Amino acid sequence: MSAVKIPDAGGDNITFLEVDGHLYPKSAYLEFPVDVIKGIRDLTIREDDVFVCAYPKCGTHWVWEMVRLLLSGDTETVINKEKLMLEFTENDALEKFPSPRILNTHCLVEQLPRGVFEKKCKIIYVLRNPKDMAVSYFHHHRKLTHVYDYHGKWENYFPLMLDGKVDFGSFFTYLKDWAAIGTTHPDLPTLTLVYEDLKEDPLFGIRKLAKFLNAEKSEEFYLKVKELTSFNKMKESKGKFIKAPDGTAVMYRKGEVGDWKNYFTVAQNEIFDRRYKENMSDCEIDFRYTLQ
Ligand code: A3P
Repeated sequence: MSAVKIPDAGGDNITFLEVDGHLYPKSAYLEFPVDVIKGIRDLTIREDDVFVCAYPKCGTHWVWEMVRLLLSGDTETVINKEKLMLEFTENDALEKFPSPRILNTHCLVEQLPRGVFEKKCKIIYVLRNPKDMAVSYFHHHRKLTHVYDYHGKWENYFPLMLDGKVDFGSFFTYLKDWAAIGTTHPDLPTLTLVYEDLKEDPLFGIRKLAKFLNAEKSEEFYLKVKELTSFNKMKESKGKFIKAPDGTAVMYRKGEVGDWKNYFTVAQNEIFDRRYKENMSDCEIDFRYTLQ
């Protein structure tokens, strides 16, 4: 096991866990976090397991909750999605959850458990425009001081993020890896949902999700799901699970499209667009960076 400290452009360090050349968050509660990460490929997978997969800060909690409500129909229970996150949970603990389990991860495709490919589990892949993702990740790294011990500034974090020196690596690599899943694994049932589309029309996304999951319900129930998964409701009911030392709900910050404009300078925006073009020339994704 090795904890590594990576300096940002201003010399402030972020602490990560390095496992087999990849960076992960240093779990605050696991006794053997490396074993858990190394064990992901061999987790016991069930045919009806559903996976919510996303690069960090792209809306994993939001979509996970939609899936949970649709599959369980249970509008009362409040569960912490981290309890079913592959990077933080041992096989024995996952085994205790009844089917269908809604597992979630920030892994690359080939890092998923082998059983996913054998059992052809359903996968929901969530995308978000990378400028808002970067700002969201900055706050995530800053707020979870007991995990990352990071106190840097946005201008010094920005190059680190672009270089992929963060947990779960370069978002360019991640985006390309997952964009290719239809080609690399055409037999895996995969639904792609986009954060900005969900913000614009959550009901449309909820219906699409229900159809994909074979969990179609009444229009009234979809409205209930929309209400219970609104930003404010989720912050109120689930914000308590991951709190920063200052008491703020880390996973529910703003929940908006376009917050990046409050952080990116004109020069940073140009650098970002250039780096994006250089890295993603072979992978076309039409991100929306603002909503009209
Ligand atoms: P911001 O930091 O931009 O607010 P993840 O769940 O993958 O960690 O993503 C976290 C991001 O999704 C945060 O973005 C968070 O506020 C936003 N988010 C969480 N729940 C949401 C909801 N119900 N509606 C919209 N955005 C939500």
